[in-house]
Amino acid sequence: MSTQYDDIQGPYDYIRTKSIALIEHENVRDTIGPYIKGARVLELACGSAFYTYSFLDWGATSVTGVDISSGMIEEAKRNAPNDGSSKGKVDFILADCSKPKEFEGGPFDVVFGAWLLNYAEDKKGLVNMFRNIEVNLKPGGHLVSVTVPPAEDPTESIKKEYEARPPPEGSGGLWYWVLKDVEGGVYFHVHGTSPMGDVAFDCYHLRESLQREAAMEAGLKVVEWGVTSVPERYLQGRGEGGASLKELESYKDIPNYGLLVVEKEK
Ligand SMILES: C[S@@+](CC[C@H](N)C(=O)[O-])C[C@H]1O[C@@H](n2cnc3c(N)ncnc32)[C@H](O)[C@@H]1O
Repeated sequence: MSTQYDDIQGPYDYIRTKSIALIEHENVRDTIGPYIKGARVLELACGSAFYTYSFLDWGATSVTGVDISSGMIEEAKRNAPNDGSSKGKVDFILADCSKPKEFEGGPFDVVFGAWLLNYAEDKKGLVNMFRNIEVNLKPGGHLVSVTVPPAEDPTESIKKEYEARPPPEGSGGLWYWVLKDVEGGVYFHVHGTSPMGDVAFDCYHLRESLQREAAMEAGLKVVEWGVTSVPERYLQGRGEGGASLKELESYKDIPNYGLLVVEKEK
């Protein structure tokens, strides 16, 4: 199985070393904190493992990573910690996460997905993604997802993002623009440059209310939908990843991502 991500894996990994990616990682650690101890985790759209092995550091007992790109999964395997601490605790499956499918080893305590829900092109597609999450979660289990910020006007949200953080710095080296309106939201382009080549891909920002309805239709309850929160040390000039203070300050008013937490009822 090959996708657009097979070609951009190197440049994408470079972008994931920037401040906003490191802040996202820290925000995920805090958001998933209440659910991760002793958890068996299913990670959808795991990519090259920006998060995968961290779940073990944060207390999970095992992680199953799933992605549609073989290039990303190969890199995820290469990124295993050198000390062998993840041996026997992490496995990977090459599969499409856009349709309901029970993954081996399930049901899981926690499903995690960073930048997957934004590939659903409409409500039906999103319901299918949420159904996939529902069938793989234990009753009382949680989904934690990094996705677009909640917005009833996605066009305005992307416009503000571009105005607050224009190229070439963008948001950690990435900037976005709307390609076209679709029913329920917009289709938009993500672009960036790196020493290894350009990063370019397209995805969707659907209305907040539509996304909440889709979760409910799949039998899931939205618990919270937080946004980018920049740790104080970054704002005091002691953060990593090279962002300017102007970029870091801008996230206070114009978030870069949402942190969605969804529950399957007991
Ligand atoms: C922006 S990357 C995010 C990777 C990783 N989660 C991270 O945070 O760095 C999006 C990932 O979603 C994967 N992806 C896109 N559509 C998918 C699908 N239908 N099923 C499984 N993976 C998918 C891509 O191959 C890619 O690895």
